[in-house]
Amino acid sequence: MLQQTQKSLPRGDRSDPQAILALADISKTFPGVKALSGVSLSLYPGKVTALVGENGAGKSTVVKILTGIYQPDGGSILVDGVPAPFPTPQAAADQGVTAIHQETVLFDELSVAENIFLGHAPRNSWGLIDRKKTTEKARALLSSIGAALDPELRLKDLGIANKHLVAIARALSIEARVVIMDEPTAALSQKEIEELYELVESLKAQGRAILFISHKFDEIFRIADNYTVFRDGQLIGDGAIADVSEAELVKMMVGRDVSQIFPEREPSAGDPVLTVEGYAHPTEFDDISFTLRKGEILGFYGLVGAGRSEFMQSLFGITRPSAGSVEVGGRKVSIRSPADAVDNGIVYVPEDRGKQGAVLDLPIFQNITLPSLGRISRGGFLRLAEEFRLAREYTERLDLRAASLDTHVGNLSGGNQQKVVIAKWLATQPRVIILDEPTKGVDIGSKAAVHEFMAELAAQGLAVIMVSSEIPEVLGMSDRVIVMREGRIVAELTDTELQPETLVRHAAGI
Ligand SMILES: Nc1ncnc2c1ncn2[C@@H]1O[C@H](COP(=O)(O)OP(=O)(O)OP(=O)(O)O)[C@@H](O)[C@H]1O
Ligand SMILES: [Mg+2]
Repeated sequence: MLQQTQKSLPRGDRSDPQAILALADISKTFPGVKALSGVSLSLYPGKVTALVGENGAGKSTVVKILTGIYQPDGGSILVDGVPAPFPTPQAAADQGVTAIHQETVLFDELSVAENIFLGHAPRNSWGLIDRKKTTEKARALLSSIGAALDPELRLKDLGIANKHLVAIARALSIEARVVIMDEPTAALSQKEIEELYELVESLKAQGRAILFISHKFDEIFRIADNYTVFRDGQLIGDGAIADVSEAELVKMMVGRDVSQIFPEREPSAGDPVLTVEGYAHPTEFDDISFTLRKGEILGFYGLVGAGRSEFMQSLFGITRPSAGSVEVGGRKVSIRSPADAVDNGIVYVPEDRGKQGAVLDLPIFQNITLPSLGRISRGGFLRLAEEFRLAREYTERLDLRAASLDTHVGNLSGGNQQKVVIAKWLATQPRVIILDEPTKGVDIGSKAAVHEFMAELAAQGLAVIMVSSEIPEVLGMSDRVIVMREGRIVAELTDTELQPETLVRHAAGI
């Protein structure tokens, strides 16, 4: 009997004495979207709690509530079991809660050190910011997380992975009891990921509580002690990681079984569509030559920093190569700008989709149709119905979740924003699409949808270049794989050579 009474207690009433920080029965509604409905979550000292859920499940919304950026509509935040509302980000920081957000909030014009200590820089006896000390402290903090970065560099001169390290250093510069990481490894290289795991271990050892959001199951099982699953803004389950299997966790998350099987494909490489000869850049890559055929999916594998993205950006006309030529459909073309590339049927979906890809204050459908307007307008008139049809087709195929196609992209979850950018470029019906880490930040169920769509478009004759650092994805999707290391092509693999060890060996140069 007693047990039953306990069970029927609403979760929110279960105050947890050992939790440093807890959410009880929290709800949050945005216009047209119930982002969270009565969720609870507890974070314990020295424990890593993984928060998992599909794109749009409400994970980042929880992070923003825990850091005082959003106010919940109902429910309470408890610090050491005592209700403590966080009306402002400062209030959360004062309670020792710090976060590395999914979209890093940093300032391009400031230096690395200034970014890290913005708002709490060391001051001298005159009360002025002590630059020397700020730089020194920043250097120490960066080296403590294994980042050999010059603190005086301007942020805008850093790549995305280094910017992320700055965000991590910033979070750690505040003496935190609770560290929240929203997909922290999405932008990091393998080496940096290992360093981040070590960092998490040391935070644990110091008795801090960690909330860790990730779509990568291998890392969840590696570093988390506890898990909490959300689906459509609701708490589906929580417990100890040791008591749950990967398949169970995926099922809780998606509501059905998801196989990690890649789509069956009949490799049907047709005529060459793209031939690259001797592409070179003074510092980033050299001597890149290959041919891409109609209907082919060509994987580009390499460690982060191997020069793959730099080469792709150059092929797309964002940067200029110092040597090399390109043929499209057997005709020599000169690509001096992205517009030239698009005119020649080549499009590029960058890795950093947040910044480079979407217009955040335009609705989804306009973002998607923007580059295709020429094709779908008649006599200068835009056909709204046609715009919606196009947008609907591509968003459905990519499993994009949104209240409606009128929703502003800025109001979408991180993973759904990425799907908008992919949809937008696919909708231009290019001859060649370059996808840079196409499923980074995409949940496991949607990942399968993206893969299936890619395979189907290839079967219809689209030529695909896929840059990916995820070995199963590279092997599961590619007909052929080019491996790059230190800016050069070091291997081209097909058929039986397509093995994980072979990829790693070539990429690492062993
Ligand atoms: N400022 C906002 N205005 C309107 N809707 C919002 C806002 N922020 C989030 N939402 C909506 O709330 C829901 C939850 O979004 P949230 O960003 O928390 O998802 P998530 O679990 O972090 O997903 P992802 O894995 O894609 O990052 C989504 O439907 C999203 O569109
Ligand atoms: Mg998110």
